[in-house]
Amino acid sequence: MTAAGGRLRVGVLVSGRGSNLQALLEASTRADYPAQVVVVISDRERAAALDRARAAGVEALFVNPKDFVDREAFDLALVRELTARRVGLVCSAGFMRILSPAFTRAFAGRAINIHPSLLPAFPGLHAQRQALDHGVKVAGATVHFLDDGAVDSGPIILQASVPVQPDDTEDTLSARILAEEHRLYPEAVRLFAEGRLAVVGRRVVVRGQR
Ligand code: GRF
Repeated sequence: MTAAGGRLRVGVLVSGRGSNLQALLEASTRADYPAQVVVVISDRERAAALDRARAAGVEALFVNPKDFVDREAFDLALVRELTARRVGLVCSAGFMRILSPAFTRAFAGRAINIHPSLLPAFPGLHAQRQALDHGVKVAGATVHFLDDGAVDSGPIILQASVPVQPDDTEDTLSARILAEEHRLYPEAVRLFAEGRLAVVGRRVVVRGQR
């Protein structure tokens, strides 16, 4: 679904700092960007990401998981809020909850996530620490569609790699990956908004890619 002026309406799910949200908000301010963040929803009332949304003049919503009997009921509330705002794409950006099929089915093919590893390596929490513990020489970030399979398992849209340096700590590696995330996520949203992503089996084909 598109916003007035033909831009894709994007909803962002967050729990914390919101630096990826910030990258999406900044992309939205460019006149030639085909998407616009229209609502930011957090499961944590004090998430810094909500302040970033407000500062950008974007609706910031706290949905309290404690108000719902179970995960599915909470997820269905998210679906209601997003649908009410005619969101055409959901971006999970540091949202610290696993979305149930109640959510992923409602937004099948219209919900994406960013993860700080080269999936399928190191899904789940502490991906950068897992990469260091494993001794990999190359790490990175992945944007993928959400599906109702395992965590971080959906079809891969874009990836970017970074070198792992011998003296890296979790913090230094995370910062290097994060810089790539901030480039990658707005690019993936742009490709989706331009209708250039086609899911063929497990593969995402990017049309018009040189
Ligand atoms: C990012 O590393 C993202 O890949 C992961 O959680 C972190 C969120 O950071 N899913 P931020 O809240 O966007 O700054």
